[in-house]
Amino acid sequence: MSDNNKSIHDFDFQLICEYFSQFEQQGPGSPEATLKALSFIDPLNDASRIADLGCGTGGPTMVLAQNAPGLITGLDLFPQFIDRFNKNAVALNLHHRVKGIVGSMDCLPFQDEELDLIWSEGAIYTMGFEKGINEWRRYIKQRGYLAVSEASWFTGHRPEEIDAFWTAAYPEIDTIAVKVAQMQQAGYLPVATFILPEDCWTTRFYAPQVAVQDEYLKKYGGNKTVEDFIANERHEMELYQKYKAYYGYVFYIGKKI
Ligand SMILES: C[S@@+](CC[C@H](N)C(=O)[O-])C[C@H]1O[C@@H](n2cnc3c(N)ncnc32)[C@H](O)[C@@H]1O
Repeated sequence: MSDNNKSIHDFDFQLICEYFSQFEQQGPGSPEATLKALSFIDPLNDASRIADLGCGTGGPTMVLAQNAPGLITGLDLFPQFIDRFNKNAVALNLHHRVKGIVGSMDCLPFQDEELDLIWSEGAIYTMGFEKGINEWRRYIKQRGYLAVSEASWFTGHRPEEIDAFWTAAYPEIDTIAVKVAQMQQAGYLPVATFILPEDCWTTRFYAPQVAVQDEYLKKYGGNKTVEDFIANERHEMELYQKYKAYYGYVFYIGKKI
């Protein structure tokens, strides 16, 4: 893998956590996209059980909580994110029904068929889309829902530069048709699929980073890991501007059958 094709996993976890915990969301998305995905799900009620896997500091989770009833568990690998998540829940007076816990999405602390809804924005890739949707299915009630956003190709072919970058970063990236077929194969009725609008990347995900990157570099003056990490983030952003016609995040909503 060339330096230009480093994935975020190639950098120090602590560094990634500190950098990303500054932001409201840790991946491409927006409250509007979260609400659109929610609109495809049958009404929930006060007794509904929801899990947001790879919740980060809880940007999408809090939007969910403000717009749907039920008890929500946010789960993330990083204690620093969960700490912020729980503080956000208190600040929004949602803590009586929204709780963040530290854990891994490949070893979930739920009972079989306990959940009405599994939510996960921009995080299932860490486990792999196909493995995730298959393994999580057992925790969802019959006729319950799965809603995940996932990096996907919009076209059958793309320029070599972007193909190589994503294939190195996430070999499971594939077309929307393939992802929908995988959902069906895993035992979900594909209910809806939509592409996240460009502003989910530009305004919501990249702009807040641009605003702090110089400051972050200054704070860690001369630290090569930090310099490489920021260079990597900037490179990824440039690639998005250049090749956004070929890929993006797609929301997949499925119903367990
Ligand atoms: C791109 S961020 C998305 C965060 C949040 N869903 C959002 O949209 O703002 C991916 C998240 O997955 C978390 N993560 C990575 N591996 C994980 C694992 N094995 N189990 C749980 N969370 C994990 C990361 O800590 C990070 O918060």
